[in-house]
Amino acid sequence: MAKTVKKTVETSEFTEVSEAQIAVHWKEEEYYQPSEAFKAQANLRDPRIFEKFGLDKFPDCFKTYADMLTWFEPYHTVLDTSNAPFWKWFVGGKINASYNCVDRNLAKYASKAAFIFVPEAEGERDVVITYQELHTRVNEMAALLRGLGLKAGDRVTLHMPMVPELPVTMLACARLGVIHSQVFGGFSGQACGSRIQDSGSRLLITMDSYWRNGTLSDHKANADIAVRTAKELGQDVDKVLVWQRYPGTYSAKTPMVAGRDVFVNDLLEEHHGKKVDPVLLPGEAPLFLMYSSGTTGKPKGAQHGIAGYLSYVTATSKWILDIHPEDIYWCMADIGWITGHSYIVYGPLANAATSVLYEGVPTFPDSGRPWRIAERLGVNIFHTAPTAIRMLRKLGPQEPRKYKYHFKSMTTVGEPIEPEAWRWYYDEVGKREAVITDTWWMTETGGFLGTTVPAIHAMKPGSCGPAAPGIHPIIYDETGVEVPKGSGRAGNICIRNPWPGIMQTIWGDPDRYVKTYFGKYNRNPRSKDWRDWPFMCGDGAVQAADGYYRILGRIDDVINVAGHRLGTKEIESACLTVPEVAEAAVVPVQDEVKGRVPEVYIAVKPGVQPSQDVIDRVIKANEEVIGKIARPKHVYIVPDMPKTRSGKIMRRVLAAISNRRDVGDVTTLANPDVVEQIRVMVQGKDKVPTTQGQLPEDIAKYGEVE
Ligand code: WTA
Repeated sequence: MAKTVKKTVETSEFTEVSEAQIAVHWKEEEYYQPSEAFKAQANLRDPRIFEKFGLDKFPDCFKTYADMLTWFEPYHTVLDTSNAPFWKWFVGGKINASYNCVDRNLAKYASKAAFIFVPEAEGERDVVITYQELHTRVNEMAALLRGLGLKAGDRVTLHMPMVPELPVTMLACARLGVIHSQVFGGFSGQACGSRIQDSGSRLLITMDSYWRNGTLSDHKANADIAVRTAKELGQDVDKVLVWQRYPGTYSAKTPMVAGRDVFVNDLLEEHHGKKVDPVLLPGEAPLFLMYSSGTTGKPKGAQHGIAGYLSYVTATSKWILDIHPEDIYWCMADIGWITGHSYIVYGPLANAATSVLYEGVPTFPDSGRPWRIAERLGVNIFHTAPTAIRMLRKLGPQEPRKYKYHFKSMTTVGEPIEPEAWRWYYDEVGKREAVITDTWWMTETGGFLGTTVPAIHAMKPGSCGPAAPGIHPIIYDETGVEVPKGSGRAGNICIRNPWPGIMQTIWGDPDRYVKTYFGKYNRNPRSKDWRDWPFMCGDGAVQAADGYYRILGRIDDVINVAGHRLGTKEIESACLTVPEVAEAAVVPVQDEVKGRVPEVYIAVKPGVQPSQDVIDRVIKANEEVIGKIARPKHVYIVPDMPKTRSGKIMRRVLAAISNRRDVGDVTTLANPDVVEQIRVMVQGKDKVPTTQGQLPEDIAKYGEVE
């Protein structure tokens, strides 16, 4: 059993020995070896790579990554640390991401497919876009954007679904040096609007509609809400460009707004066949913003730079995903999240890959769909999240056997994967032929951190592996002492060194960047030496004696719902938009398929009667402010929140209740009686047995960082 560490909630998060050091027990898993056939064809198979990327070779080892790109003018400095921790990679050179992903592939691969778009409706034909066609479309779109007066450094917000027009738009922006900020299509209009405001975009690019689970949505409605929200926050949007899901037809009911809304396809007619020279941009210029959730209610815009980011995703696509130009690669993530940016668009295209882009949900119309697509298109590299794996396993455990596809390599990303689910992925989906890489990383890091190199390392279910070349992790306890491997103790995983894929800053909030990622373990804020600036990733982790890392989940107030990162403070502030709600607390609950789902506790204002109506409006508020993915599993109206004597809500107690666990000792609370009332409300009269097993680390520690 774990050492119990008593702590009072008033103590600061920086000083005490905390539960990050609680012993973490789990069964050591068996290793699985890559096949000889896989090793023989792999892009990276020489184990000496780890010497070449040793810390003593840092940062020059990363020249290899920059050399995978085509430069208009060479860089002179690999890493500039003069404004630490705002690292500048590959400084002094001129480059363009659109050129690297499109133009440079024309000489050899003009007639090869860059994207194969698979619409959700099974009767609808695929759309194949060759590199030549992609070049034409990106140029025309760039001409259109330039015609609207956009230039390098301007921001544009995209709120688009999984259609080829999305990468076309991103690459058109990149051609001009315009910074794109794609908001996940499943986010609400309001969520899009607040990101428009934060980025200072005057242009929104959207699509009229798209298919999801058999329904053609009215996505244009979100654009109207987004523009209104942005305006309320002080940001005017001059134009909304609307792509049509079926060119020439308007598939949404919401009217176009005269003078503001324009169909992209109409505008494109004026730009037919136009060419736009890729703008020669400094390597360290920004490429895009990707908003992500953190501890506060305000999402942060992770800013990624052109050369560092692009070189990192190019190299890891080649070495870890093992993409060769002749492969058919399919990543089921959404381009609206970082995985899609890095490993559907930029990384694969820079390697001249054929990247499959699927519009809809994996289980539509049934759980055989992904395997039919794989068989029909000859997909041989497959990339998805544990949530999809668990779902496909639940609905069709033997479905993959019916189809004659063969994967050489499979990736999992976004959440910890249980060994059980891993083994099904390996045995049934991969047919025991494919290697699995469990890639651990985050929006802020641009690309993979923890992973195996598939032709070099054995796989171990449930552990992401050691780290990618040039990534040197370290686990610290709360006091900044290293937690050694094999100790069985967990701590906060950090990366000792910068790497090219790391974000440049948080858009508009450099202080938050320094504080969030470096505040805890930096010992000298004036230091220009990268050794003084370990990057705190935001996850708890434990390192086994063999050096493999097991990721235990977020240590901040972020819940990973089906691989989607949601801020609990964002959910709480959405609840508080309902006028009757006085207080709201959100906790993560374990879910068989989605990993974690949010559950909401609210206290209503004096004089307000608890009612189903209030609950319904709290649910609706979450859908409107954030999106359907934030829909809580349950909403409980409680007489009062369990609180400390200093008035802090004890979210950890609520998390224990929601997860059907014993609440432990609550006698130090200001109102211990209310805990039992809430417990009975949620769990029923009978006490849950204390033998329920330990809570996962992220839930056990939930709500401590406040
Ligand atoms: C979690 C997604 C375990 C982790 C790329 C991280 C993982 C957060 C893994 C980032 C993995 C991602 N194993 N956990 N292989 N990959 N995570 O920013 O908690 O959407 O901090 O980036 O997902 O989520 P984000």
